[in-house]
Amino acid sequence: MLNPEDFISAMRKAPTPVSIVTTSGEHGPHGATVSAVCSLTAAPPAVLVCINKQSRILGMIEEHGVYCVNYIAQHHSKLALAFSGAADYAELRNFDTDDWARDQQTNLPILFGAAAVFTCLHIQTVSFGTHRILIGKVEGVESSDAKPLTYWDGNFRPLADPE
Ligand SMILES: Cc1cc2nc3c(=O)[nH]c(=O)nc-3n(C[C@H](O)[C@H](O)[C@H](O)COP(=O)(O)O)c2cc1C
Repeated sequence: MLNPEDFISAMRKAPTPVSIVTTSGEHGPHGATVSAVCSLTAAPPAVLVCINKQSRILGMIEEHGVYCVNYIAQHHSKLALAFSGAADYAELRNFDTDDWARDQQTNLPILFGAAAVFTCLHIQTVSFGTHRILIGKVEGVESSDAKPLTYWDGNFRPLADPE
């Protein structure tokens, strides 16, 4: 059987976009940095979001039934660290800063200047190992010309032009 360390080591070389997934309910808003998001289908528009079973946001999304995937831009790296639990940026892990607006219909936190934003209705959960795969039906989208920030080899990296 493949050693998980070898899997992790190889997977570090696969670049990913970075999002801050947000949700909101009667106890207020919450967000978490998530790279494991991908497109599922265009008809109906749907995404997959993979969340660790230990994460607080998982139960909140399942309870609230709605969430937002905010793909961060290059100037959002400190926010991404904050929403991954980094103590140095803990004060950024609230929604009181100018970085956030609220969706009129759902009250979900929307990230200003994001590369793309997908507002999702939680449809289904698939459990596998340490994670749960959330299937979200996309109800609304926004996109901009902001350059996205990616994650590769353990660090945030801006996109580079091809050689
Ligand atoms: C670049 C980056 C990508 C991450 N991607 C994921 C992910 O895809 N799924 C996940 O469950 N956690 C991911 N995390 C970890 C969560 O952000 C972290 O566990 C967070 O504290 C969860 O918050 P919560 O417990 O309040 O939900 C990532 C962290 C970083 C820095």
